[in-house]
Amino acid sequence: MPTRFIRRVLRSPLLQGTLLWTATALLCATASPPGLDAETEADAWLRYSALSQPAVKSYERLPDKLVLLNDRLLTRTAEQELIVGVSRMLSKPLHTGGALPLENSIVLGTLTDLHALAPALHTPEQLRADGYWLKSARIHESECLVITAATDRGVLYGAFALLSKIARGENLIALNELQEPYAAIRWINQWDNLDGSIERGYGGPSIFFADGKVRSDLTRAGQYARLMASIGINGCTVNNVNAAPGVLEDSFIREVSRIADVFRPWGVQLSMSIDLSSPKSIGGLDTFDPLDPRVADWWGKKIDQIYRQIPDFGGFVVKADSEGRPGPSSYARTPTDAANVIARALKAHGGVVFYRAFVYNHHLDWRNLKNDRATSAYEIFHPLDGAFDDNVIIQIKNGPIDFQVREPVSPLFAGLHRTNQAVELQITQEYTGQQRHLCFLVPMWKEVMDFDMRVDGNTAAVKDLAAGRIFHRPTGGFVGIANVGMDANWLGSPLAMANLYGFGRLAWDPSLSADVIIDEWTRLVFNSDPLVIKTISAMELASWHVYESYTGPLGAGTLTNILGNHYDPGPESSEGNGWGQWHRADHQGIGMDRTLATGTGFIGQYPPEVQTLYETLARCPDNLLLFFHHVPFTYVLHSGKTVIQHIYDSHFDGADRARDFILQWKMLAGHIDEERHRDILARFEYQAAEAVVWRDSIAGWIYRLSGIADQKQRVPAPRSD
Ligand code: GCU
Repeated sequence: MPTRFIRRVLRSPLLQGTLLWTATALLCATASPPGLDAETEADAWLRYSALSQPAVKSYERLPDKLVLLNDRLLTRTAEQELIVGVSRMLSKPLHTGGALPLENSIVLGTLTDLHALAPALHTPEQLRADGYWLKSARIHESECLVITAATDRGVLYGAFALLSKIARGENLIALNELQEPYAAIRWINQWDNLDGSIERGYGGPSIFFADGKVRSDLTRAGQYARLMASIGINGCTVNNVNAAPGVLEDSFIREVSRIADVFRPWGVQLSMSIDLSSPKSIGGLDTFDPLDPRVADWWGKKIDQIYRQIPDFGGFVVKADSEGRPGPSSYARTPTDAANVIARALKAHGGVVFYRAFVYNHHLDWRNLKNDRATSAYEIFHPLDGAFDDNVIIQIKNGPIDFQVREPVSPLFAGLHRTNQAVELQITQEYTGQQRHLCFLVPMWKEVMDFDMRVDGNTAAVKDLAAGRIFHRPTGGFVGIANVGMDANWLGSPLAMANLYGFGRLAWDPSLSADVIIDEWTRLVFNSDPLVIKTISAMELASWHVYESYTGPLGAGTLTNILGNHYDPGPESSEGNGWGQWHRADHQGIGMDRTLATGTGFIGQYPPEVQTLYETLARCPDNLLLFFHHVPFTYVLHSGKTVIQHIYDSHFDGADRARDFILQWKMLAGHIDEERHRDILARFEYQAAEAVVWRDSIAGWIYRLSGIADQKQRVPAPRSD
């Protein structure tokens, strides 16, 4: 096969001629593209189910020829995905090697390729990296559907977008759609351990590691990269933030490079979490002091070595001085010192450092009412604003505590003006039901993204601060902790997969509504039957509030067992220890006083307009009341109810609504496949029972504590023994 010849042709001025299409066809016949399995659970929202006859007919005019304007890896991936998708959905074979000007074709290539082919075609002036343009156009007398972008990755994203449109039955006539990502960083973090377990993972063992090694079979990792690419995720950190130093051993880097190999065809950059003490623990130095030149030298050499094995390596995630992890405080150095020494070594290669703002003391004295874990990220990182290098990104959890069912946004988003930042969201449902309860988190994330921080009196939504748009930062964006595993449906629960899909869609375009996202997902994963769309969308959209109402209403936290599994009810576990997830419930009242006037002063970390929203009881929204204020149980909410009665009502109402999920789901019998219907029904039955456990546990606890009975007499009086 004269591959070299064809490559030369592709680079030659003949590029615009018919020969190209013939040559490309020949080349493609010998391709070894990433494999795609038959329709399985692993396909998630990329099932490409066969469409109905009328739908197939409506795509009659979709060209059945593909024209590739270059033969690079990602364009080839896009080609294969289109071939598989179109044949599955429309039972129509797509052939590469359309012969312009003779045949109508789907044309794939970058803007540069397109200009060479069709100089007269009016293309977008500017297209951000990874953005794409889908356009029906006449090229050399042929009716074409053009998928073009500034980068090859954008072309791949455009191909996925086209397939998604077909799967959802969208009209492709006169297509003219330009899509650009909101931010450069759209990354997933996995908390996988090298022994194959996953910290806070509920979907089976690691798809990357087993028994201290990288798995020999990385099929799942490749499939995961495909899913990530389909929603615009461009980076993935493969190991736990509580990182094993061994990941940086020479032999291990060689192994990890095999994961990068299966990510590469999908444009997903691999990155790693690291242990800051590595220069000492595996490097043979007697220190890991970031200001010691030997330490800088060690990082430099290590990073050069990584790039020799993984040329498109993304960078590092750092968790330091947090929950027992080593950090710069061991040498009285700052996070800036630690981040910059690594960032400088990465810079030459285009890599970045994500330094996590999740730094706090978990041995706080709970007896001191002025202590507050929520204040720590801002206290540590705000004074360092402007001191981090340009390839450092401060990765900030959405709330100041730790992925609770309801938290205000972290004030640190408004506290960094001269530093890159990314918002960290948790897709795996650590504190929100661990995928055993339905809890669609997109509505929560939307509230986070849209929250206006009013920086210097101006509009400053969290999504714009994170994306670097307010202070014109070079980079920034969105990171989601996914923790998918070997389970067939990745997260261990079919409906929970909407969170992974939703994260990617929001990271691409945070202005999308939760309704649009769930509608898309439901059509892709189930079908377009109006009853299915209406029912599943309504259930998913309600689910966060339902979960919140039977676990932790009014911003008190989830009241879960924080010392154990982070799942069962365990309100007593929050108090009397240094972890700082306190709700301060006693016989008189409940809630953390975080006011400036009498409390911990946390509210003072927000810009003034946000302070006024939270500081007074008169303005503080009910749903965050107990996060910011300590009030008597008899305090009357804006809703007119007392706090104690609200807690009772909310738990009973939430448990009733969880039970109603069963009825709603039953109505879908016959409208979706029996297997998934049965499986998901059993999950709702389980959830309904668990909601009752939660209801009775919290209602009983609060009655014992307050001595105030439920007005509706649903809660039995506490036993006196
Ligand atoms: C939570 C979680 C830990 C995790 C930590 C983090 O505390 O329970 O398992 O390591 O967050 O984000 O670093």
